[in-house]
Amino acid sequence: MTARRARTAILISGRGSNMRALIEAARAPSFPAEIVLVLSNRPDAEGLAFARDNGVSSAAVDHKIFAGREEFERSMQVLLDLHRIEFICLAGFLRMLTPWFVSQWRGRMLNIHPALLPAYRGLDTHERALADGVKIHGCTVHFVVPALDEGPIVAQAAVPVFESDTPERLARRVLEQEHIIYPAALARAAGGRLTIKGNRVFAGEAEVDCPPLRVPPEI
Ligand code: GRF
Repeated sequence: MTARRARTAILISGRGSNMRALIEAARAPSFPAEIVLVLSNRPDAEGLAFARDNGVSSAAVDHKIFAGREEFERSMQVLLDLHRIEFICLAGFLRMLTPWFVSQWRGRMLNIHPALLPAYRGLDTHERALADGVKIHGCTVHFVVPALDEGPIVAQAAVPVFESDTPERLARRVLEQEHIIYPAALARAAGGRLTIKGNRVFAGEAEVDCPPLRVPPEI
């Protein structure tokens, strides 16, 4: 008998490379989540075509046609309900979410951020990390809470920062890790094996651990 898989939606705004990594990982029948819907707030988001071509229902809910954030989110919520969604992954979704929407999905919505939170919340993380001269940078998957780029951390990966880095080179190195940790984090979270205590995430008795640091070659 195959175990029931959590019906999962991915919310995007653009390229969708993390969305693609999640869809590809979820092709394995043993993966605990099934990607059944991709929603974009931008009708021209590149990622929508990949979802369509790969048999995943997709739709654009254009935020510009709504009077306010909550009206926009209520329309998304209708689609999420129609598709009986149980879990959400934000993957490059560039809209701030209201406390109303976040509370609907408490403990059931993940986000990926291109920095080692709590450092570098917000935008332009790679530029800011380079400007600060940090030697280690990375990415974080966390449960979504009302405050932007905060919330219990499920997974992180670190990469070295090289002297020769540009924001683009550093972004590529980090993105490679994003594509590894996001599916791994979703598998853990959607499998229902995680519990959240305060700002910390546990798998059974143990706090979730970090994947071993793999130092990629200088790219
Ligand atoms: C990624 O760097 C992700 O961490 C951030 O936005 C970017 C989205 O890239 N939240 P993609 O659309 O998944 O390619």
